[in-house]
Amino acid sequence: MSYWQSMEPGAGRRAPRADALSNARRMSLNGTWRFRLCPTAMGTGADFTDPSFDDADWDEIHVPGHWVLQEVTPPGQLAPRSLRGTADGPLYTNTALPIPIDPPRVPAENPTGDHRLVFTAPQDWHGKAVLRFQGVDSCAKVWFNGVELGWSTGSRLPAEYDVELRPGRNVLAVRVHRWSAGTYLEDQDMWWLPGIFRDVELLERPPNGIEDHQIHASYDHRSGTGTLRVDTDVPARVEIPELGIVVPAGQEITLPVEPWSAEHPRLYRGTLVGESEIVDLAVGFRTVTVENGALLVNGRRVFLRGVNRHEHDPETGRALSHETMLRDVLLMKQHNINAVRTSHYPPHPEFLRLCDEFGLWVVEECDIETHGFIYTGWAGNPPAQPMWRDALLDRIQRMVERDKNRPSVIVWSMANESWTGENFDELEQWIRERDPSRPLMYERDPSYRNSDFYSIMYPSLETLEAIGRREEERPAGVSDAEDDRRRTLPFLLCEYAHAMGNGPGSLADYHRIMRSSERFCGGFVWEWIDHGFHHRDGEGQAFVMHGSDVAHRPNGGRFCLDGLLFADRTPSPGLRELAAVLSPVVIDVGRATATLHNEHDTLGLEHLELAWRVETEGEESASGVLDIPACAAGETVSLDLPVPAAPLEGETWITAEARLRREESWAPRGHVIARGQGLLEPAGAPPEPASAGIEVTLLAPRPGGGHLTLGPGRFDPLTGALVELGELPTVGPEVDLYRAPTENDRGQGGHNDLASVWSAVGLDRMQHRTDAVEITSHSLQVLGRSAPAAHGHGVAYHFEWSAPDERSLELEVTLDFTGPWTDTPFRQRDILVPRIGLRMALPRELDHVEWFGLGPGESYADSRHGAYVGRFGAPVDALQTNYPVPQENGNRQEVRWLRLTGSDRSLGVTGSRFSFAARRWTAQDLERARHPHDLRDSGKVWLTLDHAQQGLGSASCGPALPEQYRLDRSPTTWRVVFTV
Ligand code: GAL
Repeated sequence: MSYWQSMEPGAGRRAPRADALSNARRMSLNGTWRFRLCPTAMGTGADFTDPSFDDADWDEIHVPGHWVLQEVTPPGQLAPRSLRGTADGPLYTNTALPIPIDPPRVPAENPTGDHRLVFTAPQDWHGKAVLRFQGVDSCAKVWFNGVELGWSTGSRLPAEYDVELRPGRNVLAVRVHRWSAGTYLEDQDMWWLPGIFRDVELLERPPNGIEDHQIHASYDHRSGTGTLRVDTDVPARVEIPELGIVVPAGQEITLPVEPWSAEHPRLYRGTLVGESEIVDLAVGFRTVTVENGALLVNGRRVFLRGVNRHEHDPETGRALSHETMLRDVLLMKQHNINAVRTSHYPPHPEFLRLCDEFGLWVVEECDIETHGFIYTGWAGNPPAQPMWRDALLDRIQRMVERDKNRPSVIVWSMANESWTGENFDELEQWIRERDPSRPLMYERDPSYRNSDFYSIMYPSLETLEAIGRREEERPAGVSDAEDDRRRTLPFLLCEYAHAMGNGPGSLADYHRIMRSSERFCGGFVWEWIDHGFHHRDGEGQAFVMHGSDVAHRPNGGRFCLDGLLFADRTPSPGLRELAAVLSPVVIDVGRATATLHNEHDTLGLEHLELAWRVETEGEESASGVLDIPACAAGETVSLDLPVPAAPLEGETWITAEARLRREESWAPRGHVIARGQGLLEPAGAPPEPASAGIEVTLLAPRPGGGHLTLGPGRFDPLTGALVELGELPTVGPEVDLYRAPTENDRGQGGHNDLASVWSAVGLDRMQHRTDAVEITSHSLQVLGRSAPAAHGHGVAYHFEWSAPDERSLELEVTLDFTGPWTDTPFRQRDILVPRIGLRMALPRELDHVEWFGLGPGESYADSRHGAYVGRFGAPVDALQTNYPVPQENGNRQEVRWLRLTGSDRSLGVTGSRFSFAARRWTAQDLERARHPHDLRDSGKVWLTLDHAQQGLGSASCGPALPEQYRLDRSPTTWRVVFTV
């Protein structure tokens, strides 16, 4: 059988070893290589491996890179990326394998990229060297100066080969197969992106150089001492000048140190000095244990506020620059995230170095996922097949050996979603023997026999609460002994809160539950970044491409866009919400005090100061900055706020923000960690109308109708519709029960797909009828019904209009839901109404909004911690969140008043607290658009004023929208006042 269809992991490679920086010479072979694509693996023969082969007519390609994301071009014309055609383009599947399940065989159509590099070595550097590939997807065979070195699988893991470097000209030839036996082990939910996508390097190997080293650096919290021992394969000396350490490798030394933690990533830098090579050391002293059902680091519980991170760049796929990795780390730190699960493979080693340096707890996951075997009912699943043992173990060994010295890595995760099998026992045993210093995790085996953590994905709030109370149901098919053991384990939530599209909802609920029981040691939101690619359509319009933009089946569609960052790394509203929820400082603001709860694991609050301000309807009247008294982790401190005693009129809030008092390596001075607000003075009662208000006038009927006027409003006397407000022509307000479905409204599983019910029952196309227009002396009563075609359900509405003065028009709305609010008599699915409100169209010139309520960003019933009460303003266009798949967005909640202005005209709205959105298009337009650039200015501003809107949830992968965020359909009345 050909090597790419072999269950062997590779051949000819060197033994795996620690990733290290040393003073031995290193030559990057990244850059412009020659490239030839063949449609099959057998393709064009091995002629190109000959050093004298003439590749002058080959294309050029950039290494590291995926050939499916590059325009490979004739020599000398290396162009910016553009996606290749679909036959050999990027493919996206979720659980499905893109090849038939017939392991270890793969189809003959197996795009194969021959890569070739001719390079010149320095005259004084020749002889033995190591050639290292940090990542090649999915299988590569390598020749150096015409000599075959070997081959490897395991895309996100390094492979090293011994080479004989010649002074001057050397020729490297690499044949990369898109599909291989390794494909069966790499069925993660992500794009299939072949190529040499991580660095290629040549490493000098001095005689008697340091091949490998292992740092053992533990911390004893009782004595405050660290114990260090560095093992190597050759005699060497450990030097850590800061600690005065000069000891031979292999010798243990104990001395007082500061421990390493994500909150205080104390690294001691030093060197390992061998006879011919000096290796850099970055030592972090810490001890990780699981004791009595808790995850402890340095003897203390830690709580992981985590995200799942895939490697993604919208231009270069999984080929990331140093800047991009650093950006991820800084963005995480700035959003109160303290942990990363490297879903679902070891990241570029540089990312872990950054985690060591900036402080992030890492659950490092191996490059193993066999999810696609779900389609055979798990028949043939590699973890359960002895012949796959070596390939699986090889991956584990390459991960553990490479990253064993990283203090940030505190847990090894063996795999994702690969069901069960005895090979896991062997993987576990190997890790336990090689590295007893870190606990292990594997989520998918319900017996948890190979795991030090109990974990599941996407539980409902109720399920998570039950786990917190230790009352969860027992998984099927496990023995009493296994279940008893599982119940003693700490619970680590490896994936929750699916951040697809607008959402996720309930972040605060999940966090509250996880903080409520000692059984929890944290969790990881799914996921960090949208895997979308920047692309252009036939007309040159830029858009973010997802699975459905590729004509290939099977296809995971839009499911790759489920991150807290948009593909270009712009934070989404979901990330702002997460930052507020995860904040390690919780601030309660009273009338003249702020109480700070320090929820860090170990850190005091010395690095923070408290800025406070008093605002009446958003107008600041006093402010200051206070030092924060000593407050250790887990403690609470109260500060008096010197709020002026003078009486304030109008709704007045105190806002207190804990912010960095100095610049930190990961954020500027003044960066806000936590915010709290307290109401100082409630809003006064609304003034009573002086009289009964203004009388209704019926203007002389004219052909075609005539008008009713009431204060600033003109109405159609037949339909009762408002047609003009002051000088402003209007359409509506009319009853609106619809929102453009979010990804979470299109939830998985029949019962969670609310959007298909809405569409089936016509919520998006209600028809409005007027039954009566009644005039009393001071009011206009409009009664009617809004309902969809072909169905019996609807809402009876009653609009009561009055005019308190010449400039204001008040509307009291009463709605009564009538009819059977289930989709059909046969299916009886309850219809969850997404919104109860009004919508109206206004002139397009009213394109700026100022409001007093929650802001500045969007907020929803179950995602509002990132917003706060204040006075905000923005152009209508800036109120939109450009989700790459258009959907409901831009809602602002708890609004007391708003004012739309433009071209010297304005419209004010007040009333019982409401939420609003203002856009240049309707919800129906939003729903129809495939990409943001499909949205067209309708020539109007569409204003929705909601009495209530249901929450977001995260049902795109997860539980149904929790009960408390659904709208009930009982009769309801509310009030709005329009002022011109
Ligand atoms: C999980 C899986 C992730 C991703 C997520 C849904 O089951 O581990 O890789 O597919 O669901 O987006």
